Amino acid sequence: MDKLVIQGGNRLTGDIYVSGAKNSVVAILPATLLLDVPCIIENVPDISDVKICLSILESLGAQIDHLGEGTYKISCEYVRDYEVPEKYAQKMRASYYFLGALLGRCGRAKAAMPGGCYLGERPIDQHLLAFEALGADTTLIEYKNDDGVGYVGAVELHAKELNANHITLNVVSVGATMNAILSAVKAHGTTVIENCAREPHIVDLANFLNYMGAHISGAGTHKITIEGVSELRGNAAEGSVEIRSYSVVPDQIEAGTFMIAAAATRGDVYIHGVIPHHLRDIADRMAECGVEVEAIENEDIVHVYVKEGAAFQATNVVTEPYPGFPTDMQPQMAVLLALSEGQSNITESVWEDRFKYVEELRLMGANIDLTRDGAIIWGVNGLHGAKVKACDLRAGAAVVIAGLAATGTTEITDIHHIERGYSHIVEKLRGIGADIQRVSE
Ligand code: EPU
Repeated sequence: MDKLVIQGGNRLTGDIYVSGAKNSVVAILPATLLLDVPCIIENVPDISDVKICLSILESLGAQIDHLGEGTYKISCEYVRDYEVPEKYAQKMRASYYFLGALLGRCGRAKAAMPGGCYLGERPIDQHLLAFEALGADTTLIEYKNDDGVGYVGAVELHAKELNANHITLNVVSVGATMNAILSAVKAHGTTVIENCAREPHIVDLANFLNYMGAHISGAGTHKITIEGVSELRGNAAEGSVEIRSYSVVPDQIEAGTFMIAAAATRGDVYIHGVIPHHLRDIADRMAECGVEVEAIENEDIVHVYVKEGAAFQATNVVTEPYPGFPTDMQPQMAVLLALSEGQSNITESVWEDRFKYVEELRLMGANIDLTRDGAIIWGVNGLHGAKVKACDLRAGAAVVIAGLAATGTTEITDIHHIERGYSHIVEKLRGIGADIQRVSE
């Protein structure tokens, strides 16, 4: 198993480029199953979750051509299967998007319960609510563990036809909103989805599907309306093939991670290829800590630096669905707060168990206490290197930032978590002056 080895203390300076968004592309790739013509997807990040999505598509019968870095041509016309192989479904959360996409395509879908980061309970009841509202029968298939105890191991969906409905989600859920869109896009009639999540990746999925011929409005608000269409052919006339290219939106969380890395190392970094308004709440909380964050809106750049002699100040962070502070930035932000004078409070309102990184940061000298739904952080003068692990994807990003800001050597194991969501992180950080290497153990 490989590990990351970081010699901390280098100020990060220069230019770094953000890749396409993980949480967009993992929905857009399954969505290609709904298309009646091939398409080209650009700005695809080189991460393991994408590899799994592509493997699932291939296993279902899609043809995938890698046209160049981050660019794939995907043709799904010969897909006949509707069952996601268990070995892939269990490797990532987003495998559940194949349920919505396959249901929308052929009225049938089967997949093992999705894997991904453990952040507490991750039910899919709202996804099932949407599928059922459109007319699907859902069957939860029970498996038995080694002790003979039963648990839901897989989901099977079947619909003779999908008919539009008025769906009100009981919980604001990114995944359920995406799956409701995927399954409703070709349903008969006009579907209305209320209490939707508003994240940039939801808008990106809707933009992609609309570009290919869907009629989705309201993405990015709490209410999405979908007029079902019988075909998704882009601009191609019946019998002809016009291959359209779609570029995945930049990754808000990767950008935010680089912003915090620049700040925590007291660096001066231009982060390119971002959509600045996606980063507003992250930038606001960082500014409260005394970090300079300048969005250069028309140039898709955010400039992050720390004034000479400025000390970071404590602040409070509450995670919320978009446009609030993203839960996926909470562990990274905790590193900046660990270096900020005074007492900061974090309240985690999305996931019940997203603090596994705290133990690792404590090994590096951070002073953090856990509360019922959050953490209290007392700033320390500095962090020191240690042997730590990446407990999950964003926890891994947090220990990378901590290692960059710390004195001495940090070794990070379990880096497969980081590779699920950060494209070429070692090369990118080395490009702005980090001393970080991937080493085979
Ligand atoms: N929830 C339910 N029932 C459902 C679905 C969700 O109760 O059927 C609850 C969850 O338990 C949670 C809340 O609703 O408390 C929000 O969950 P959501 O469905 O929005 O999360 P998700 O779709 O499973 C996506 C991202 C996560 C990110 C969350 C919140 C993907 C593949 N994953 O998960 O990303 O934390 O939205 O923004 O898009 C990450 O990238 O590190 C990551 C974990």
